Amino acid sequence: MNKVLKFPPGFLWGTATSAYQVEGGNKNDWWAWAYKKTPVFILKMEKKVSKAGKACDHYNRYEEDFDLAKSLNQNAHRFSIEWSRIEPEEGKFNLEELNHYRSVIQALKKRNIIPFVTLHHFSNPIWFHKKGSWLNKNSSDYFKRYVEFVMKNLKEEVNFWITINEPLFYAFWSPVLEKAYLRSKWPNPLDMFRAIKNLIQAHKKAYEVIHKFGSKDVKIGITSFYTYNEPYQNKLINRGLAWIGDYFLNKYFLNRIKAHQDFLGLDYYHHYLIKFDLFRLASIFNMSADKELSDMGWGIYPKGIYHVLKELQKYQKPVYILENGLADARDEKRAKFIADHLYWIHKAIEEGGDIRGYFHWSLIDNFEWDKGFWPKFGLIEIDYKTLKRKPRPSAFYYAEICKNNQLIFNS
Ligand code: BGC
Repeated sequence: MNKVLKFPPGFLWGTATSAYQVEGGNKNDWWAWAYKKTPVFILKMEKKVSKAGKACDHYNRYEEDFDLAKSLNQNAHRFSIEWSRIEPEEGKFNLEELNHYRSVIQALKKRNIIPFVTLHHFSNPIWFHKKGSWLNKNSSDYFKRYVEFVMKNLKEEVNFWITINEPLFYAFWSPVLEKAYLRSKWPNPLDMFRAIKNLIQAHKKAYEVIHKFGSKDVKIGITSFYTYNEPYQNKLINRGLAWIGDYFLNKYFLNRIKAHQDFLGLDYYHHYLIKFDLFRLASIFNMSADKELSDMGWGIYPKGIYHVLKELQKYQKPVYILENGLADARDEKRAKFIADHLYWIHKAIEEGGDIRGYFHWSLIDNFEWDKGFWPKFGLIEIDYKTLKRKPRPSAFYYAEICKNNQLIFNS
């Protein structure tokens, strides 16, 4: 039976990207890492490290990409400003690059697409990296200085700002890897907490700066990689581990910036099934326990987004889902993935959740960090030889939802 699920008037329908993954030609710490000799343990993980190179050349083709987004009925778009372009050398700011992003913002607005701008999406200038990156005790002040430059120039151009993408996940993952990659040694686990402390400060300082220079309507948040942690068979030990995971992975950062955010940005991809096993400690947090998996082996668990949205209600802030998607080269699962997640999002709205937008990851195929180009997250396929863009069937399916502000759900 078909059910028509209407979304609230003014609901935002969009897609998201990040600079290093789509622009091409960026020289930041990821670029430096890819050109270094690959350490052995990474070789085991991924066989070889790819280089982003010219990626999707979105830096030059953003107008074409936004035309496509418009033709697919999207009314919002999230992208990031690349810090290493704006401040390629310490304290030396590049106005030309800043004006490039002004043109990107204007290109969106001209098409009636609302821009959501991220100021930090996993990549740093090389000079910042050389100073120890987010482990440097002054890192939050360096970030603040960059944000000040951006805000003094862009002022009222943008209403929605994301200071830092998934800071907690990034701190778990990136400084640890950075140290290992670039200095070729294993890091001290305490580094992670030092990085988190600095990222919290960086967010708070950026929040003040954006409110100081931005328009009166400006709204600021972070995005959280927030997972639903499900204890296997509801056993006590699994419940305890799920609670610990939930506290550190989901709530630790958010609880510390409560007074410094105007909305919550949610990135939801998968859930964890938590099962304690003394002999398989590495798989206690299992992200592949579902029947359906994406090309990257991540479980597909749409109901998880409902649980997460219910939990986020306690923060009493509007929520924007700023990333949700899957790697699916054959586009066999994407349309159903979108429908099933939207079904649960709609249920959370019906039950009183203040959820104001959905941004699919991603508008176009792109460079997936340590994995390279093989995971295909795009509604639009990129032929990396010709850089031709071609919407996949699921892009048209999503376009219908965006156009009608409703989901026709086949239950
Ligand atoms: C990141 C994206 C990434 C996506 C898929 C998110 O956590 O923000 O940059 O491409 O996950 O792995």
